[in-house]
Amino acid sequence: MALERTLSIIKPDAVAKNVIGEIYSRFEKAGLKVVAAKMKQLSRKEAEGFYAVHRERPFFNALVEFMISGPVMIQALEGENAVLKNRDLMGATDPKKAEAGTIRADFADSIDANAVHGSDAAETAAVEIAYFFSTTELCPR
Ligand code: PPS
Repeated sequence: MALERTLSIIKPDAVAKNVIGEIYSRFEKAGLKVVAAKMKQLSRKEAEGFYAVHRERPFFNALVEFMISGPVMIQALEGENAVLKNRDLMGATDPKKAEAGTIRADFADSIDANAVHGSDAAETAAVEIAYFFSTTELCPR
């Protein structure tokens, strides 16, 4: 299978818990390489733009407030089947439903503060990676 890329965000709750390294270690053990990374305090405009597809959902404002409540760690990951592999590592959106040993089961407290974001498809990943990284910030393929 061809190499694929996905966008991952370590959210403000997980950054505050100081578990960036633990989460990176899970990416590495699963064969996912970090091909771009930046730590950032998102502006409201950036968070609203990133989650624009969810604008009509009841939790949109809460999600944006949470995502700007502290710095996030943003990375593009590369590997075989990277999108699905990262979603498997993350676990279910609601940590109460996340399988044991997943990032959300281990580090997330609630569906609002659920530790990580991961792209849900290769097409979305391309858009999300371009939202945060210019081509010169990404390792060449
Ligand atoms: S997902 O993960 O995209 O398949 O799930 P979805 O249900 O479509 O959720 C879209 C994003 O909204 C977040 N979310 C919530 N935030 C706050 N409160 C509630 N109740 C809630 N439900 C879902 C969810 O984590 C998704 O954000 P990301 O950053 O992609 O994880």
